[in-house]
Amino acid sequence: KSFSQITHLKPMLSLDNAFDDDEMSDFVRKLSERVGRDDIAFCCEPKLDGLAVSLLYENGLLMRAATRGDGLVGEDITSNVKTIAAIPLSLRGENFPSTIEIRGEVFMPFNAFNRLNDTAIEHNEKPFANPRNAAAGSLRQLDSKVTANRGLSFYAYSTGVVTGENSQLAPSHYAQLMQLKGWGVPVCPEIKLVNSTASMLSYYQDILSRRSELPYEIDGVVNKLDEIEAQLKAGFVAKAPRWAIAYKFPAQEEMTTLLDVEYQV
Ligand code: IVH
Repeated sequence: KSFSQITHLKPMLSLDNAFDDDEMSDFVRKLSERVGRDDIAFCCEPKLDGLAVSLLYENGLLMRAATRGDGLVGEDITSNVKTIAAIPLSLRGENFPSTIEIRGEVFMPFNAFNRLNDTAIEHNEKPFANPRNAAAGSLRQLDSKVTANRGLSFYAYSTGVVTGENSQLAPSHYAQLMQLKGWGVPVCPEIKLVNSTASMLSYYQDILSRRSELPYEIDGVVNKLDEIEAQLKAGFVAKAPRWAIAYKFPAQEEMTTLLDVEYQV
C-alpha cells in the first residue's frame, strides 16, 4: 500500500504460450499468412524469470520506474530501481530519444539468490522458494537500502512510448535492442536473429540444453517477429501481441519419496 500507482503510457502486454514444436510451427504459419510473407525473421530471446518493469528516460535521465501491475497500472518503484547497478541512471551517448520507455525484466542471478538464502538460513529465517520470488520481494522493499544489497540485475527486451527528438528507432526489434545496448542499457547476450522455423526450434533446443549453465533462471524462450512494420500489421489480441510467443520449457521433474498422506474431509 505504500507504493503510489503509475498508469503506463502504453499498456504492458503479456505473451501467449506454446508448449511444443507443432504449436510453434502453427504460430509461424498463421503469422506468415497474416503478414503475407514466408521469409520472416524472428528475434529469439530467453524468457527471463523475474519481474517486468518499465523505465522512463527523459533527456537521457532515468525519471521513473514502474512494475507491470495489471498491464495498465503499475506501482512506482523508482527509488528501488535506482539502486540496481545494471540499470543506468543516465543513457550513454547523444542520439537517444528525448522520451523513451524501456521495458525489461528485473531478475536475481543465482549467485545473489544463493547468497541471500544462505544468510536467511544462518539467521533462522525462511529462505525464498525461487529467484523470482526473491526478486519480487527485493523490489517491493520500503527501504531502498535493502534492495541495493540484493544483487538484482536487469535485461531490456522492448520499448514502450518513444517521443520527441530521435524518436525514430531502427525498423527491426533486434536492431532496436542493439540501439539500447549502445546507450548503455543491458540486453541479454543470448538473443539471436533467425530466418526459419527450423532455426527457431534449434535455438529452443540449444537454450534448453544450456539452461542449467546460465547464471539466471529462465522458463522458456520468446520468439518475436523482427520487423516492426510487420509487427504493426500483425497487431494484438486481448492482452498479447500476435507477433510474439513464449515457447515454454517443460516443467522440471524431480524424484522424491512420498512419506505420508493425510486425508481430510
Ligand atoms: S516481451 C509485447 N521478452 O514474460 C511483449 N517478455 O509472459 C512483451 N518476459 O510480462 C513481453 N523474458 O515479464 C518479453 N525476452 C522477453 C521476456 C519477457 C521474460 C516476461 C515479461 C512478460 C512475461 C509475459
